[in-house]
Parts: sequence; C-alpha cells; structure tokens
Amino acid sequence: MFPTNRPRRLRQQSQLRRMVRETVLSVNDLIYPLFAVPGESVAQEVKSMPGVYQLSVEKIVEEAKEVYELGIPAIILFGIPESKDSEATQAWHDHGIVQKAATAIKEAVPELVVVADTCLCEYTDHGHCGYLEFGDFTGQVLNDPTLELLKRTAVSQAKAGVDIIAPSGMMDGFVKAIREGLDEADFQYTPILSYAAKYSSAYYGPFRDAAESAPQFGDRRTYQMDPANGQEALKEVELDLAEGADMLMVKPALAYIDIIWRVKEITNLPVAAYNVSGEYSMIKATALQGWIDEKSVVQETLTAFKRAGADLILTYHAKDAARWLQE
Ligand code: PBG
Ligand code: ZN
Repeated sequence: MFPTNRPRRLRQQSQLRRMVRETVLSVNDLIYPLFAVPGESVAQEVKSMPGVYQLSVEKIVEEAKEVYELGIPAIILFGIPESKDSEATQAWHDHGIVQKAATAIKEAVPELVVVADTCLCEYTDHGHCGYLEFGDFTGQVLNDPTLELLKRTAVSQAKAGVDIIAPSGMMDGFVKAIREGLDEADFQYTPILSYAAKYSSAYYGPFRDAAESAPQFGDRRTYQMDPANGQEALKEVELDLAEGADMLMVKPALAYIDIIWRVKEITNLPVAAYNVSGEYSMIKATALQGWIDEKSVVQETLTAFKRAGADLILTYHAKDAARWLQE
C-alpha cells in the first residue's frame, strides 16, 4: 500500500541534494564568443542579441580582461572585416581583424586562452563558407580549393597568437588539411577544436546579424548537416578523429542534445557544445518580457549540456553564468 522505496528521502534538504548532485557546472567549462570589428571605440550592440557587442580591438581587449577576471578560461574570436572578396583575403591576411584582435588580447591577457573560429563566411563577398567557382550563383562550395584557404587562415591565426584553431566550415578533410598546415609552419602543439557535427540550423540567424555573414544567395545545406540526421554525426566525428582533431564540437546544442550524448559515448576527447545565438536570443527575449526567470533558465540549460556529456560550453551567457557561479 505504501512505497518502501522513496527517492524523495534524498531530496529533503539542500545540503543533501548537494551531496547527491550528479552534474556540476563550473566556470572552467565556459568559452565566451567575441566579435571583433575594425575602427576605434566601437561597441555596437547586436540588435537580435541583447548584451552582445561588436567591439573594436582596444574595446575587445577590455572585454577580454573582464572575462579573464571572471575566471572564464577562454574566448572564441569572430571577425567582421573591413572588406570582403571572393578569396576571403581578410580571413588569412596577417593583419586581418581576428589576427589583430588575437595579438592584442594575448599581449594584454596572456593567460586567457584564445580560440579562433576558422571559416571564410565572414570574409567572402557572397557569405558562403568556402570558395565558389567564378560566376557561380548556386552556392556550390568547392571543397578542395577551400581547404587551401582554411590552411592559410589557420596558420596566420596561429602566428598571430591564437591558441586553439576551431574550423567551422564543414568542408570534407578540413581537420587533416589544417593539421598539415599547422605542423609545416611549426605549430605542432596548436590544438584543433573541430566543429565536427555542425547542423544547417535556423538557430544561427542572430549570429549572422552579429557577424554580418548571411549567405547572399542559397543556403548552407550542401555543407552543413541535415537536422534530421543523427548517425551521420557519428560518421563526421569518426573522420575528424582519424584526421587528428583534439576536441570535438556539436552545434547547435539545445535541439541536438541527443547528439552531444551520442558523440560523448564514442570518443575520449573533450566534447564542446555550442549554445548558439538563436538559443541565447530566445532566452533573452523571453526574459526581457518578464515571462521566464533568466538566471534559473540559463543555469538549467547549461547544466543540461553538461549532463548530456559536454565538457565545454561555448555560450553568450558565459559572463552572466560566471557571475552567478560566484554568488
Ligand atoms: C561560421 C559560424 C557560424 C556560427 C559559428 N561559426 C554561422 C554559420 O554557420 O552560419 C554560428 C554561431 C551562432 O549562431 O551563435 N561558419
Ligand atoms: Zn562559415
């Protein structure tokens, strides 16, 4: 008539709940994305991402200091270049915006780990993540010629002081190509965090405002993954492992939480989850309406990524989360 087993026994006081808690979110898990723009004294809030700014180099250095003081170990850099062209010149130029920002940050806050997103979409005039045949308006990205540009980009980022290369373009063989490029240039100890399972997702919408990187025509479905596929993520992971990736990313995070779990099950490498722009904006917008409690929802969400198997979380909530963890 009455239950003998009562799981509620272990939920009766907060210290006891603390003792049996399985997942603990730590500031060590967080990576904070930053957007570098040319100019001086620029701090331009991104319309669809309240609290996220495009920052000029000296402002981004200030921000990096604040991030470091909050105990967050790493940032990931994106760049909005002065000019865009068909060869994504500003992606691999030694004085490109990400290179400048990385050098300045490493000079001011040497201990902060600087990750760079290694892709071309912010730098091509058409907004695709790779090279197109001249005059091609179908958006069919040429895989192998793109590898050459990615290699160049990664090496130039490493030379500028970037600690971790994070290729996000979903080109076949990009980890191998970048590894070769880094090794030849004497960066054998620069790790690659591969965006291994990156889906073609509508959740990137606000990011494309922030990075001014929306494709001018077509979409990214010929290189990013179909949201309906799970098994295919494991194949992508397998290839990246064989090509020498040091860490693996699943992106987006929320709608792909099952993929985080499945990836974690088949690898011993650290797994990162990218809590993307649209996920951030949904929480922000709802919280600004007063419809949810931002702090609780963010903490619950970030903890869920860890419970699902993520070792690292790239998130625009990182600064807030770090502050809340100090309370
Ligand atoms: C570039 C890149 C994108 C994101 C990270 N790197 C956008 C895209 O693929 O269109 C999205 C990040 C976010 O939405 O927060 N390839
Ligand atoms: Zn891209």
